[in-house]
Amino acid sequence: DWTMGAYRAEAIERIRAQVGKGRVVCGLSGGVDSSVAAVLIHEAIGDQLTCIYVDHGLMRANESDQVVATFRDRFNIKLIHKDASELFLGQLAGVTDPEQKRKIIGRLFIEVFEEEQAKIGGADFLAQGTLYPDVIESVSATGGPSVTIKSHHNVGGLPEGMRMKLVEPLRDLFKDEVRVLGRELGIPEEIVGRHPFPGPGLAIRIPGDITREKADLLRKVDTVYLEEIRAAGLYDAIWQAFAVLLPVRTVGVMGDGRTYDQACALRAVTSTDGMTADVYPFTMEFLTRVSARIVNEVRGINRVTYDITSKPPGTIEWE
Ligand code: XMP
Repeated sequence: DWTMGAYRAEAIERIRAQVGKGRVVCGLSGGVDSSVAAVLIHEAIGDQLTCIYVDHGLMRANESDQVVATFRDRFNIKLIHKDASELFLGQLAGVTDPEQKRKIIGRLFIEVFEEEQAKIGGADFLAQGTLYPDVIESVSATGGPSVTIKSHHNVGGLPEGMRMKLVEPLRDLFKDEVRVLGRELGIPEEIVGRHPFPGPGLAIRIPGDITREKADLLRKVDTVYLEEIRAAGLYDAIWQAFAVLLPVRTVGVMGDGRTYDQACALRAVTSTDGMTADVYPFTMEFLTRVSARIVNEVRGINRVTYDITSKPPGTIEWE
């Protein structure tokens, strides 16, 4: 893309002018925005950039490996992969309130990030994948009273009290433009075209308390569901698709036996900005195929439901 090629060159010049010989840290989340920001900044200043990937143990299956493989192995970016799942799951044990989950995850994320940053001797700048809509939203947020439905902790977000200068090379781009820039930079389609994924990850897709076993179970369901969506060629037509592990056990039959296992819900929506959303109209044939695969392949799940609530009145996530 010609325009994006020019943007890329300009952005690189701007980053170099701002950073000089300084050191930059960037919190990588595996999402589109922080990925594009990291690769762009790396192109501008190379090893002056260190990325920190805080793994809270609530990512999708294989996602952490993919982040490491892409950024460290393919782009040669200095990357710290911190497996902090013990810490996060330990602090989340017994916590059921969604906002409490977000607070704990947000706080631990900052703690771990700062610790890892201190280990490499600190940095002069913090890089963020802030987009234009984030800039407008934070300006308009001061304009009057509003109702906070969810405290949207964003894993790439600026930790309060971290007084570092910001490098925000995507500040004047919209999401679709970031994707174009990402492709221009050679970032693989599976990252550039990825559905949004919330900072707290699977924590807000497990209503009730979180355990490693539940997260593992949910990852299996989610994997089958997304495999089928990709195989049907539907991934790009959907804004977000994911599974939710329900805190409900129901009776079922398997062969000659009775089962008493957990239920799950599948969700898929279309949207343009996440503010409103419509249910994705899968065919019944698709849904029953996915359901059969999940119940047959994921031990511990014996019932599958499809969430048919639009936003509003529902939200996209269950918590
Ligand atoms: P809701 O559930 O509010 O979600 O309809 C709208 C969009 O925001 C994402 N989301 C989050 N993203 N931290 C994030 O970084 C969060 O705490 C969070 N909660 C929801 C959600 O996945 C959807 O894309």
